This record gives sequence, structure tokens and C-alpha cells, in this order.
Amino acid sequence: MEDSNRAIGLLDSGVGGLTVAREIFKLLPEEDIIYYGDTLHLPYGPKDLNLVREYVEKIINYLITEKNVKAVVIACNTATSAALDYVQNKFDIPIFGMIKSAAAKAVKISSSQKIAVIGTEGTVNSRAYQEAILKLNSEAGLFAEACPEFVDLVEEGKFDGPEVKKTAKKYLQPLKEAEVDSLILGCTHFPYLSPVLAEIMGAEVTLINPAHEMAVEVKETLNKIGLLKNKAAAEAEHKFIVSDQSRISRRFLEHGRRFLGLEVLEFKEENIFSQEFNWEEII
Ligand code: DGL
Repeated sequence: MEDSNRAIGLLDSGVGGLTVAREIFKLLPEEDIIYYGDTLHLPYGPKDLNLVREYVEKIINYLITEKNVKAVVIACNTATSAALDYVQNKFDIPIFGMIKSAAAKAVKISSSQKIAVIGTEGTVNSRAYQEAILKLNSEAGLFAEACPEFVDLVEEGKFDGPEVKKTAKKYLQPLKEAEVDSLILGCTHFPYLSPVLAEIMGAEVTLINPAHEMAVEVKETLNKIGLLKNKAAAEAEHKFIVSDQSRISRRFLEHGRRFLGLEVLEFKEENIFSQEFNWEEII
């Protein structure tokens, strides 16, 4: 098959990355997408980043060798923090991550340069967002908050209501007090909570969805290197795969289906981890 007509691989720790798939579908409607969600190992957020990097490497290797993808998008922020530089050096196809373009957007639009990032513990503690912002403006005021309970709430299908509001107030209060003017939603699950987060932060704070910025980056880069799909080729095909069917949150999936505007959303199981590595050897 012509190089540019091959699929784009998208990987995430689970089905949360559908928020990223949606942005790619919107901006690149003609592209074939193969989505791989590692539900077997969800969540990545609290895990050791060396282990997350091993998972990511294995998934990318599978997407390239078994699925012949032309590029890979790491939809998961924790996985990007853990593995992007490593896999970009290791594999010779374009690999995109969630952090750089969102950091650039924040620096561009923030008038006070007081910027906040929320994400999993893994993402926040890795300081990947913070470093990416500081590279662009070493004077930026940075405020970061790990919000692990947001992931649990969204997985349970809770996007609004008193419990979500209470949790959001707890996490966002320090960022409000710091008077930030932009907030990066540095986790696949957080765009589902946008209305609540926007309400709590107030109209003067701009929410940045890294998925949108990354989709713009993917489109521009593939265009530049001649890897956009030929528009005359067959209609776009979207395939969804997970490493463990039994660990998909049904409530979340139903919401994801509606969120993507799909009639049906079905995941096939392909466990590429059946021979788990001994992780004590890795660290
Ligand atoms: N996909 C993860 C992220 O964007 C959130 C869920 C998890 O902890 O695996 O960081």
C-alpha cells in the first residue's frame, strides 16, 4: 500500500483516549485510525514511569510490525511523559505526544504567564509539562496539581453533580488562588469534565485541551512530509482494540460512543502482553 494511505496508530492506557481520537477524526476525517487501549494495565497514572515506558514501547512495536502504521499518536499524557523521547529515538516513523503543542499554546495565549497544569500523578511528577513550558518562557509562573480522583470519577461515568464539583473545588482551589489565566487539561479524561472545570475556574481562565493542539500538529507535520492520506483513497476506517475487554468501563464507553457521535463503538481484544516481562529486571 502507498505509504501515505496506511493507518495512523493511536495508543492510550484505556478508552479515555477517545477524547483524542475525536479531535483526530474531526481534523483528519479521511485518515484510517487504529486505536489501541491498554485496559489490562489501566491506570498508567500511579505506575512507575519505567514500567509505563515498557508498555508503550511494546504497543508501538506491535502497531508498526503487525498493523503497518505510518505514524503513532501517544494519546495518553502519562505515557507521553514517560516515553516520548525514548520511542522517538527508537522507531523511525513519526511519533507524536500530548505535551509540546499544548505547552506552546499556553505560552502563546496566556497574558499573565501564570499557567496551571492538571494531570495524573505520573504526568505532574515527571514535570514534563512544566519543563516544556519553561523551555519556551523561563520566567513563566507554573502551578501543577495531580488530580487522580478525576480519572476514577470519569471512569465511573460521573461528569457532573455534587461529588464531581466537590472534588474539582478541592483540586482547583490552589490554582484559583494563584490567579492563573490558563489551565492545561493534561489528562485524556479531563475534557469530559470541562463544563465543571470552566465553571469553577471562572470566565477569565482559558482551558486548553491538548488533544486539539496535538491533532493540529499531526495534520501539519504529516502534510509537510507528504504522509497525509490520498483523498481519492477509500473511505476512512476506524478500528478499536484493547488489551483486556473485561476491564472496559461500560458506562464510560457508552458516553464515549455518544461523545464521538458513533452508532456503534466496539473493541476487539488483542492481548499483546500475554508474555509479561519481569518488571523487576526493568528497574
Ligand atoms: N490516559 C491517562 C493520561 O492521560 C489517564 C488514565 C491513566 O491513569 O491511565 O494521563
